[in-house]
Amino acid sequence: MKKLLVLFALIALVLGSFTGCSSTPEETGPKTVKVGIAIYKFDDTFMTNYRTEMEAYLTGMNSDEVTYEVSITDGKNDQATQTEQIDNFIAQAYDVLIVNLVDLTAASTIIEKVKAADIPTVFINRQPSADDMKLWDKITYVGAKAEDSGTYQGEIAVDLWNAGGVDKNGDGVMQYVMLMGQEIHQDAALRTEYSIKKVEAEGIKVEKLFEERGNWDRVLGQEKTAAAIAQFGDKIEVVFGNNDDMALGAIEALKAAGMVVPVIGVDATAPALDAIAAGDLSGTVLNDSVGQAHTSVDKALALLAGETLEKEYWVPYVKVTPENYKDFQ
Ligand code: GAL
Ligand code: CA
Repeated sequence: MKKLLVLFALIALVLGSFTGCSSTPEETGPKTVKVGIAIYKFDDTFMTNYRTEMEAYLTGMNSDEVTYEVSITDGKNDQATQTEQIDNFIAQAYDVLIVNLVDLTAASTIIEKVKAADIPTVFINRQPSADDMKLWDKITYVGAKAEDSGTYQGEIAVDLWNAGGVDKNGDGVMQYVMLMGQEIHQDAALRTEYSIKKVEAEGIKVEKLFEERGNWDRVLGQEKTAAAIAQFGDKIEVVFGNNDDMALGAIEALKAAGMVVPVIGVDATAPALDAIAAGDLSGTVLNDSVGQAHTSVDKALALLAGETLEKEYWVPYVKVTPENYKDFQ
């Protein structure tokens, strides 16, 4: 009986090598790694650049050994929708997730879910609290220090002031308008704070004329600026936008009112760089979507490989002015 089994095994082996159905890696094909990416909403210029780059970077790494299957979801700025999308990734046994939360207060719920399913996760762009990050070791955060972007905006304003291009009414005070991003986002509060802090640190007095939320949105940025113009008109000496889309909206409103006022943004999106070239935007700050996309993906794959990571990783901002904008186009 034993001899018969050995014989069968031998025959199977020989047949196998003839028909080619042995299991060397070449013949079973590359292994598939399923990467789920949840974006807070697709209708956002900076996050669109970011997600496009993550996908390109991942698929660019496809090889004979591995195929990255990437699925990206649009949270439509609604946490309930995004949570459902993450539940789906978990139900479909995704290997690793990259999450741009809609609402930071949902972080602990999401972390408990991915932890229960043992799916390593990288948070991006919106930073969960330090306490939330302690809930599991297979999570990390990739972002950029919002304080620095604010400080660079302040530096741009100071340079314009020192060049004599700001104090229209000659009262020695910088009268400004601030267009803020979404309340839930650390970038909005920090850019608002640090831009003005920098101006004041250089000994320039400031007067806040108007400060409202445009929620990162170009149309809202235009509407809020139009409202500021209706109220303060020529008193406005500079407009700070927490991002480029709102800054570009502000430029539209100023043009419609026949006003020329320095406007400063953040992100260095393609339309913003064009606006610098056209002389409409005074400056911006590179929010490095390519650098952040690569770091997030690298960290996701490191977590998947079982590496122990830090709780946060930072990609630097770069100040962009009419002198150097071409380097970023
Ligand atoms: C910011 C960026 C904004 C917007 C926001 C989305 O970092 O400057 O333009 O994309 O993230 O959360
Ligand atoms: Ca003034």
